[in-house]
Amino acid sequence: MNFDIYKAFCGLSTTFGPSGREADIIEVLTELIADTIPHIGDWDHRTDAMNNLIYHRAGTGKKVLLAAHMDSIGIVVTHIDDNGFARFAQVGGLMLGDLIDCRVRFQNGTRGVISFEEKTPYEKLGFDNLFLDIGAADKKQAEQCIQVGDFAVFDGEPFTQGDIICGPYLDNRIGCLTLIGAMAQLEKTDCDLYVAFTAQEEVGLRGAQTAAFAIQPDYAIAVDVTDTGDMPERKYPMAVKLGAGPAIKLMDRSVICDNDVRNALYRAAEKSSIPVQREIMEFGGTDTGVIQRTAGGTKAGAVSIPTRYIHSPNEMASISDIKYAIILLAQAVADGFE
Ligand code: CO
Ligand code: ZN
Repeated sequence: MNFDIYKAFCGLSTTFGPSGREADIIEVLTELIADTIPHIGDWDHRTDAMNNLIYHRAGTGKKVLLAAHMDSIGIVVTHIDDNGFARFAQVGGLMLGDLIDCRVRFQNGTRGVISFEEKTPYEKLGFDNLFLDIGAADKKQAEQCIQVGDFAVFDGEPFTQGDIICGPYLDNRIGCLTLIGAMAQLEKTDCDLYVAFTAQEEVGLRGAQTAAFAIQPDYAIAVDVTDTGDMPERKYPMAVKLGAGPAIKLMDRSVICDNDVRNALYRAAEKSSIPVQREIMEFGGTDTGVIQRTAGGTKAGAVSIPTRYIHSPNEMASISDIKYAIILLAQAVADGFE
């Protein structure tokens, strides 16, 4: 495979693409795919009204959909006061503690920092007590850079250390990379293959719903991040850890995965000698949930990349888990689901 996961991730991590504002990430993904996939001429691609980016390679076999959401969480400006400080709402699920002293960046390059009202006791802080400071002198100057309704994303540089990759938006730009890696490996298969980079997952699995409806696949696998249970004093036990292989999803709040798809993934793991983990994520859902239930239903499963500190500016995952996930996905699709 001719792409460096960390290098490719740096490009995707720093590309603007919060839910509903996916134009830039679509452009960067399209370029990366054109540079990475051998025989890209065998594929056609389109975007739909929801801004899902969908690749297709026609085949005579079963219709298979691989999906990963490309949107990220972020914030949206709701109000700018006379002194030039902005208030904001969440785009996707944010945690208050991750936002304090956090840097954000708008599509036009404007940067700001999030701080809090000091008069509220720290432990009583809510999202309403946070504000965004772009260093403007007053409202007029602020509005030359940002407007109510403008979206912003975490502004942070990724790093790699040993087998670790860390930075904003591993969720789910590493899922996108996993799909691209699998596309590159999947040269010989007769399945009618769709690869969808879905929009607006973080605000309720919205893009995957319309993509799956339009495609109506026989089988689907979504790739996303999942929590791990391996940090000190976690509240809930979870049998997934970093660096022990990709996780085959059994269940989360949105889905109980299809048996045929799950078994195909286990068979592929055994055949390729890949370590895999069993995932039950008690909180949160994935695109798998809506793909399974759209139109007349789809046999759907998921491959998850174990990730610490999900939805913080410093998500952490293992590069070997990502590499194994690519091989796992390609093997499962190549061998089929029956
Ligand atoms: Co997420
Ligand atoms: Zn995600």
